[in-house]
Amino acid sequence: MANEETPIRPARPDDLEGVLLLWNALMAEHERSDPRIRLADGAVGAYRAYLGFHLGSATSRVLVAERDGRAAAFGLATITRNLPMFLPDRYGYLSDLYVAPALRRRGIGGRIARGLFEWLSAHQVLSVQLQYYDFNESGREFWRALGFLPYYTRMWLDLP
Ligand SMILES: CC(C)(COP(=O)(O)OP(=O)(O)OC[C@H]1O[C@@H](n2cnc3c(N)ncnc32)[C@H](O)[C@@H]1OP(=O)(O)O)[C@@H](O)C(=O)NCCC(=O)NCCS
Repeated sequence: MANEETPIRPARPDDLEGVLLLWNALMAEHERSDPRIRLADGAVGAYRAYLGFHLGSATSRVLVAERDGRAAAFGLATITRNLPMFLPDRYGYLSDLYVAPALRRRGIGGRIARGLFEWLSAHQVLSVQLQYYDFNESGREFWRALGFLPYYTRMWLDLP
């Protein structure tokens, strides 16, 4: 697929509803994969507010891939302040990345991720972190293909 067919650009306020649809689809995929992932009542409204905040924040970057006039993929990175005991004092955090299923394996996810890295680098951010669910083998392979290495493991225990 030619890059011109799916240009990557910063999200605009009028992308909000389109990105929200993509986030819903991302969450539905995740919910089907692990019963511990459960959305609260009002989750969509909460994500709308969260996204609106990031769209207006100088320390966040939302990129979308546009296809036929609509957002078909998106990614969100923020510049995060580290705990005061640790260096570096700031790092990039990539919290969301989603490509519509029909458009996967065409390099779109990679182009969005690299666009976010370029934006972080331009803000003198020297490293980036993210997390993915254990079931998400394609996510793991995708991040590894970009050069990410494991760093931190989060565990879960159901209490009686
Ligand atoms: C993970 C995701 C963003 C990848 O997007 P994409 O546009 O398909 O990725 P790309 O085409 O840029 O893939 C780049 C490379 O990553 C690796 N990769 C991507 N998907 C893969 C998969 N399902 N299995 C194995 N490797 C994969 C490959 O090395 C690929 O290169 P190749 O196609 O030349 O072999 C997409 O599958 C997605 O939205 N998944 C659901 C949400 C998600 O898991 N988000 C990220 C984790 S938080």
